[in-house]
Amino acid sequence: MAATLIDGKAFAAKVRGQVAEHVARLKEQNGITPGLAVVLVGEDPASQVYVRSKGKQTVEVGMNSYEHKLEADTSEADLLALIDQLNNDPSVHGILVQLPLPKHLDEDLVINSIAPEKDVDGFHISNVGLLGTGQKSMVPCTPLGCLMMLRDHHGSLSGMDAVVIGRSNIVGKPMAQLLLGDSCTVTIAHSRTKDLPDVVRRADIVVAAVGRPEMVPGDWIKDGATVIDVGINRIERDGKNVLVGDVDFASAAERAGAITPVPGGVGPMTIACLLANTVTACCRANNLAEPEGLTA
Ligand code: GUN
Repeated sequence: MAATLIDGKAFAAKVRGQVAEHVARLKEQNGITPGLAVVLVGEDPASQVYVRSKGKQTVEVGMNSYEHKLEADTSEADLLALIDQLNNDPSVHGILVQLPLPKHLDEDLVINSIAPEKDVDGFHISNVGLLGTGQKSMVPCTPLGCLMMLRDHHGSLSGMDAVVIGRSNIVGKPMAQLLLGDSCTVTIAHSRTKDLPDVVRRADIVVAAVGRPEMVPGDWIKDGATVIDVGINRIERDGKNVLVGDVDFASAAERAGAITPVPGGVGPMTIACLLANTVTACCRANNLAEPEGLTA
């Protein structure tokens, strides 16, 4: 393997350490404990695992965690009433409604009912607009984690050619905005892109976020490029259940200058950035200096 491994697990531990330091300072100097409320509707097994992990890590960095578990058949009115209560609760600085929601609930309506300054997912339409116009916003956690790793590896990203494969609202689009904000020349590629291999071969930075196991082979990667693999796909291989990314790691690592593994790359950064966003939201709510290096 020629590429440098970008260790997301270690990086996430470092971010959590910085968050914990800031939380301790807020408690000591200001008497404030940041609080994160997580709302889970229904019993989706993957969502339950994520929510448990979020709650555990929130407590580990010294913040208050408030978990709200609602029945799968909860009405939209009841969910909106809970969000209204959390919006008006001064001990809650961040609110996250775990997605996907059961089909009878309107996801856009629910997300847009969260107070934008408490929207630590960065999914509220106001935050999307603020990010798109280069204003201070809450930034979606997974793209923020990718940006932190890229900045850490390269220093400045200015003038680099970046390709984001995938155009989701959660990862692809905000990732492209963040790279543009750091003065990259950005291409967003997707399932209808003509000659995707050629587009990827021109990129200094490749962010793969499509959710298709190992769809990017090594021979699409420019020599020395940095590859950020957002994919987390479960597949059967040699009779075993394994996690793989959207990039064929073995062949891409032969060409890339640096690459994130799956697991242990982008994945751990997402919750670390959620904690970072919660501290940021708490500081903004109290007109205090924001932690450095934890925002876009
Ligand atoms: N479900 C899967 N990923 C996410 C995320 O980043 N935020 C929320 N709210 N739900 C998710």
